Amino acid sequence: MTRRSVILGAGAYLPERVVTNDDLAKQMDTTDEWIVQRTGIRQRHVAAEGEFTSHLAAKASERALAAAGVKANEVDLIVLATTTPDETFPATATRVQAMLDITRGAAFDVQAVCAGFVYALAVADNFIKAGQAETALVIGAETFTRILDWNDRGTAVLFGDGAGAVVLRAAYGDRGVLSTHLHSDGRTHDALYVDGGPSSTGKVGHVRMAGKEVFKHAVSKLAQVIQEALDANGMAAKEIDWLVPHQANRRIIDGMAEKYGLPKEKVVVTVDRHANTSAASVPLALAEAIGDGRIKPGQIVVIEAIGGGLAWGAALVRM
Ligand code: ACO
Repeated sequence: MTRRSVILGAGAYLPERVVTNDDLAKQMDTTDEWIVQRTGIRQRHVAAEGEFTSHLAAKASERALAAAGVKANEVDLIVLATTTPDETFPATATRVQAMLDITRGAAFDVQAVCAGFVYALAVADNFIKAGQAETALVIGAETFTRILDWNDRGTAVLFGDGAGAVVLRAAYGDRGVLSTHLHSDGRTHDALYVDGGPSSTGKVGHVRMAGKEVFKHAVSKLAQVIQEALDANGMAAKEIDWLVPHQANRRIIDGMAEKYGLPKEKVVVTVDRHANTSAASVPLALAEAIGDGRIKPGQIVVIEAIGGGLAWGAALVRM
């Protein structure tokens, strides 16, 4: 029997404050119509002052552990994907570890921007398959609005804050993460980056994006990596029960669904309410669709994401 990582439960947390497109239109030259038409985004959640990435991550993790029926002290690995850590160091994962009173195993961060959760899932899955972990918490958490330039309407309207988490456990059988597929291409750096950091400017910096270029890359690279995941498992697109895509833009999501012949009912969409929460977007969507009973045990789920790097990836999971 094959040792695999089974998703036992998922949890989500969104900050209380909701900012609508109309709210943004009061402070910058934009409209609800422009934002909805180009992206499908209607609102986003924004973290309160003093509310950090670790706080969102810990709340999502508590809910994931409760949904999984797993006690915090059973966790022996925490992999947290974020682009907006509390501090330059230590890893935000270690803050979460302390908040959850976990005193064993390893906790570290993974940085692959919007693809971060897929990367973190791949890392944790490989630890479990190698026998180096039994029970892992995989988290995507961001306070992404803190790195936005509020004078740049081209990016400021696109992002939000939030966190999602899943609990993985080693098991022998057919269920679990069937394969993960990761890619990056550093030559595309200038399409999407932050113009600062501890080693370059000494300042945190702001998001810079060539939107049309990222859009073009997203459509082709996501289509390729979904196909790669299907091929690796000898599956056809019609065997997919659910597509849980990165929530950046409704048009990209619809494009992927159309390419693979998936009806809207098989695609989990949260971008309208959450906007792009970077590494948190996939686990937030996953937690919502598992929580409301849409995604059921035994079903085939494909997750995918692309972000700064560019870095992108996909995973195929039998729930
Ligand atoms: N409100 C009103 N007008 C705006 C806004 C706004 N918020 N932002 C830009 N505009 C204007 C521009 O100034 C431009 O005006 P001009 O024609 O007078 O110069 C016009 O709208 C068109 O701008 P474009 O940037 O060309 O618009 P586009 O159709 O490309 O849509 C968008 C922009 C939504 C950003 C799109 O390119 C996109 O979604 N790209 C992909 C982003 C993405 O998927 N990112 C995922 C990864 S994110 C991550 O990894 C962190």
